[in-house]
Amino acid sequence: MLEAISELKERAIAELSQIKDLEKLEAIRVKYLGKKGELTQILRGMGKLSPEERPRVGQAANRAREELEAALQVARRHLLEAEKERRLKEESLDVTLPGRPLPRGYRHPLSRVLAELKDIFVGLGFAVAEGPEVETDYYNFTALNLPPEHPARDMQDSFYITPNVLLRTHTSPVQVRVMEAMRPHLPIRIIAPGKVYRRDDDATHSPMFHQVEGLLVDRRVTFGDLKGILMAFLRQFFGSGVGVRFRPSYFPFTEPSAEVDISCVMCRGRGCRVCKQSGWLEILGSGMVHPAVLEMAGYDPEEVSGFAFGLGVERLAMLKYGIDDLRLFFENDLRFLSQF
Ligand code: PHE
Repeated sequence: MLEAISELKERAIAELSQIKDLEKLEAIRVKYLGKKGELTQILRGMGKLSPEERPRVGQAANRAREELEAALQVARRHLLEAEKERRLKEESLDVTLPGRPLPRGYRHPLSRVLAELKDIFVGLGFAVAEGPEVETDYYNFTALNLPPEHPARDMQDSFYITPNVLLRTHTSPVQVRVMEAMRPHLPIRIIAPGKVYRRDDDATHSPMFHQVEGLLVDRRVTFGDLKGILMAFLRQFFGSGVGVRFRPSYFPFTEPSAEVDISCVMCRGRGCRVCKQSGWLEILGSGMVHPAVLEMAGYDPEEVSGFAFGLGVERLAMLKYGIDDLRLFFENDLRFLSQF
């Protein structure tokens, strides 16, 4: 019996010396000292021993239990210590390392130009309005005096969703939506920036681009007001030295209509490749709101008049920053974008 106890103790201590984690340690404790553990069984079986044997075996078994418990405690402490060491090493923090720099973000050149345009026009008393990019045939064309047979409605130029719904080809439908919403209030003085869509794709055309629409409706608005506002805007945007000229043109929703050119920002009007030697760059369309458009929107063209204009944001950004390929705006190449 005494030998069995000492053999058991040796075995338990040998097993303890092999373990590497707390789970194994617990398994060994249960195996020897648990309710059904080997040593526990021996202590339980003491009753069957003779009175002479009992104290000696009892003493030996109790000593073995104490030794085992002590060994378990030592092993547990070692394991916890080793675990702490490992984590300290693994999770070490060098607080003297410099921080990782976050790459700096840049405002997209189109966002910059849009913000600048808004600033200028808000300064001139205009409010900012918005309209849907998915538009009905009525607002994109009909209400702007573009009858169904008009060539601008050709499927070639537009992205149709259904025969009556399309991606807007310009921001001009916002003119009509704003007039309908404001009627009979005067004056109306808004700009409407946003995305527009056309089936075009080359170095100077993208199927999606941005326009800013302008609309002013009031009593006795004249072409002189249109000229004054556009001159003020262009001088603020391109600098006071910029040359501006108005050329007669045609839009179904304005009468009379004018296209506006500025003196070439690349060659200052002397003539170069960008302005095709003319010295001038076309930058926007404009005119007096057509009476038929005012009428369809619910205003009396005998009483009120207005002007409207529409400009291309990409084009303005290209001229302002000397960018020669429109596609650069949409490629999101950081080498390009980080220059702004
Ligand atoms: N909507 C016209 C275009 O996209 C521009 C324009 C707007 C012309 C307002 C006149 C008045 O070409």
